[in-house]
Amino acid sequence: MSLFRGNNGPRIKHLAEETAPYDAITVEKLTPVIGAEIGGVDLSRPLGNHAMEEIHRALAENLVIFFRDQHMSPDQHLAFGRLFGDLHIHPAAPSAPQMPEMMIIHADKDSPRANGEGWHSDVSCDAEPPMGSILYIKTCPPLGGDTLFASMYAAYEALSDRMKQYLAGLTAIHDGEGYRGQYANFGIQDKETYPRAEHPTIRTHPVTGKKALYVNRGFTRRIVGISADESDGILRYLYDHAENPLFQCRFRWRENSVAFWDNRCVQHRAMWDYWPHARSGFRVTVKGDRPV
Ligand code: SIN
Repeated sequence: MSLFRGNNGPRIKHLAEETAPYDAITVEKLTPVIGAEIGGVDLSRPLGNHAMEEIHRALAENLVIFFRDQHMSPDQHLAFGRLFGDLHIHPAAPSAPQMPEMMIIHADKDSPRANGEGWHSDVSCDAEPPMGSILYIKTCPPLGGDTLFASMYAAYEALSDRMKQYLAGLTAIHDGEGYRGQYANFGIQDKETYPRAEHPTIRTHPVTGKKALYVNRGFTRRIVGISADESDGILRYLYDHAENPLFQCRFRWRENSVAFWDNRCVQHRAMWDYWPHARSGFRVTVKGDRPV
């Protein structure tokens, strides 16, 4: 089906659900499908139970949430992440000295690559991939360096019923071998092996109970139990489908902004369109469960 023309109305008929009002925080949606900017919160200070409950709800309802003008020390960033669970240590990426959970995000004019340039869900090659990632950008280029986020609930919903049935029960291999050599410019030596895991192609979110498409270009290598050519064709279709802009929002960073995304239902892609300028920050990542 063409993405641009059809005779049955829009490709995705998504109704932004009515939600209970917020009173400890403000929530301004970026699109009806995904993304919201949160106000009235200082992440460097202890958050009350009510504010925390509303942040949890805002993440569940919007999939990725953004905070502006935050001034957190590295310890405060780690402490904010720990409010959501134990912290994840990246199997390959560089981290801040003495802080293995504080992943460095940095690209400048001499970088051979930048983080997250292709669509992916963070570290989906882990047997228990991270639940969420909290990226704090401290240095922005004068223009560019946006991050795109896509709802995998919307991608699942927009599949045909026949495709949903086909994928039900199918699993796929996610492989971290792509990390090999990727961080050599930071002086990181390769490990002997990188994580590899088998996950359902459709997962059910443990909090919302909604189904999400769970294959991504960054890590998924093949669907199990079908021929290689069939797997290649189906994955190619699913990647193209998942990258439809209808399912996306685009975040324009300013210095001291924070994005918190839910890897269980979101893919993201960082734009490296700002060369020769620099973009830097830190990511704290929260551990997750085995996808089901
Ligand atoms: C990543 O965590 O994949 C990087 C995202 C970004 O730099 O915007």
